[in-house]
Amino acid sequence: MSDRPIQSSAPGKAILFGEHAVVYGQPAIAVPVLEVAARAVIVPAPTGAGLSLVATDLEERLRLKDAPPWEPLAFAVRHALRHLGEPEPDATIVIRSSIPIAGGLGSGAAVSAAIVRALASFLGHSLSREEVSRLVFEVEKIHHGTPSGIDNTVIAFEQPVYFVGRESARPELLSVGAPFTLLIVDSGRPSPTKRLVSRVRGDWHRDPDGLGALFRQIGAVVREARGHIESGDAGALGLLMDENHRLLIELGVSSPTLDRLVQVAKAAGASGAKLSGAGGGGCIVALIETDGSDAIKALRKAGAARVIQTTVE
Ligand code: MEV
Repeated sequence: MSDRPIQSSAPGKAILFGEHAVVYGQPAIAVPVLEVAARAVIVPAPTGAGLSLVATDLEERLRLKDAPPWEPLAFAVRHALRHLGEPEPDATIVIRSSIPIAGGLGSGAAVSAAIVRALASFLGHSLSREEVSRLVFEVEKIHHGTPSGIDNTVIAFEQPVYFVGRESARPELLSVGAPFTLLIVDSGRPSPTKRLVSRVRGDWHRDPDGLGALFRQIGAVVREARGHIESGDAGALGLLMDENHRLLIELGVSSPTLDRLVQVAKAAGASGAKLSGAGGGGCIVALIETDGSDAIKALRKAGAARVIQTTVE
């Protein structure tokens, strides 16, 4: 056990293509968003103090021994300790995150990944990226109900991924033929992933053929997008983002606010734009091929809470 503080972090993520359909076995593409991050600092505490968690952004403080079994932060710690074969250490974990909560950028998965990594280093273990991903996946089930596994994967691997549900034992890391630039636009309206994912599940139970056809169309867009990303033909991605957004509208997971931000981004020069993540609120992602400053100004004027520019490479 370390006698000094240990810090770990994990980035945010954006789904570029294929959200929702990925829960039903279709592929999806996600990229890490390194401009935002969750950080966990673990500090030794006096003998017998046990483990406490302090989430400064949420003004939450809890002691592991008093936390209910399904409290996500405590679950992440207990699950990691079980995996490492370690007893509860005397320590305090302080968590901070610059990732918007319930904004579609993977804040829950990033917080879990930062906690798991900090705890492992503090106890003298090193975890592979696969192990971090698997541990975080278990916590994601509490956050999301039936997660596909894409969020924990892209956040643990910190690289663009082509993800095909549970079929892929290991994620396929995407090679990006030529860098391209995205604007991640936060609508400022939180939207819990669990609610949207369970709404789509309800619709799918009522109309498996209709939704199945929609998921397959989304899957076809993702496969085509993969080819363009690998060959460095980012110009062709814009139309595919527009098409993916249209299919997500048909799936009923967009909102007037997200549609408006998509339109504003396109009018300001983005070559494609779509909602990103579960929808309902949260973020859109736009592809820009020139300087993004006009688009950023227009999006802010249209009410975006935050615009993050990121390069995928
Ligand atoms: C959430 O980031 C993406 C969804 O496809 C859910 C999932 O894949 O677990 C909506």
